[in-house]
Amino acid sequence: ISLKPFNTFGIDAKAKYFVSVANIHDLKDILSLQDYPKKLILGGGSNMLLTKNFDGLVIHINLKGIDIVSENEDFVFVKAKAGENWHDFVLWCINNDFGGVENLSLIPGNVGTAPIQNIGAYGIELKDTFESCEAMSLKTNTLQTFTKTDCDFGYRNSIFKQHAKGQYIITNVVFKLTKHNHKLNINYGTIASQLEFMQITNPTIQDISKAVINIRESKLPNPKAIGNSGSFFKNPVISKTLFNTLVENFKDIPSYPVSDNEVKVPAGWLIEKAGFKGKRFGDYGVHKNQALVLVNYGDAKGSDILNLSKLIQKTIQRIFGISIETEVNIL
Ligand code: EPU
Repeated sequence: ISLKPFNTFGIDAKAKYFVSVANIHDLKDILSLQDYPKKLILGGGSNMLLTKNFDGLVIHINLKGIDIVSENEDFVFVKAKAGENWHDFVLWCINNDFGGVENLSLIPGNVGTAPIQNIGAYGIELKDTFESCEAMSLKTNTLQTFTKTDCDFGYRNSIFKQHAKGQYIITNVVFKLTKHNHKLNINYGTIASQLEFMQITNPTIQDISKAVINIRESKLPNPKAIGNSGSFFKNPVISKTLFNTLVENFKDIPSYPVSDNEVKVPAGWLIEKAGFKGKRFGDYGVHKNQALVLVNYGDAKGSDILNLSKLIQKTIQRIFGISIETEVNIL
């Protein structure tokens, strides 16, 4: 079957076998089948680039449900199953006035894949509300609980991208959310000016969600209209020594502090400076409003986009001496 509807890049790669699982029991049964040695686990398909057909079994994680598992005076613990769409989960929280994930509005993908790369935007990361998750071990076919410490979260990183890579399927995530006295994060980037534009002086979490949605819609392409995977690259962390030499030639280079001797530089800026922003090559290219996003205008092949990403990496290396890593998984 074609995987086009199952990846936000909209790449028309084919899978030899495909199954969608809606409960843990079926998941266990499927995983114990010996006939399909090659398996690919598919969540929201929002962080992958398919560069060829897959000659094995694709297991689409379609576990659904959002439930309150416990609460106290101040916090509520909400369990969301892996197959829930991330933004639908955020809206559920907003509608119940549970705070903590509003800055993460409109991020593509599903709940179950969000911890893998510790999704983040507008000053918040998934880890800030993450309590624990359950995951099925592909080795033992049993469920295991991972606490926040176990997950070892970092910038677009977790144990599931490091030594536990490819060994687990996350089946649900428990979030710790505020019931009142919400801690609002409006300091990042243009949130404050967006709220001002919306003429809001005392923002609620609902307002922040709306502000983030407005900003994202103005900058980032909607995958339903133009295929993409959000940021294709991670923002590189470089030494202050390198940064100081770059400033001599590029006076307007932005940076965020990371440690005493390192800074993070926005990859989008580097790519724009290198002249790629808005460049289109047939059915694929670099988005016109955010250079960090590679796009599929129709029938691009995954390999085309991969080659473009390599050209961008090489050019950035040549101009700035910085190597930028992909954020998206290349398959
Ligand atoms: N910039 C440019 N040109 C561009 C894009 C950005 O010069 O084409 C400059 C901007 O002017 C700004 C800086 O880069 O000074 C930062 O831009 P922005 O606020 O858009 O954020 P980003 O660093 O490019 C990161 C995340 C996004 C997230 C935003 C907002 C990564 C790899 N990306 O992008 O995440 O939405 O911050 O928090 O960290 C994603 O992961 O898929 C994603 C979209």
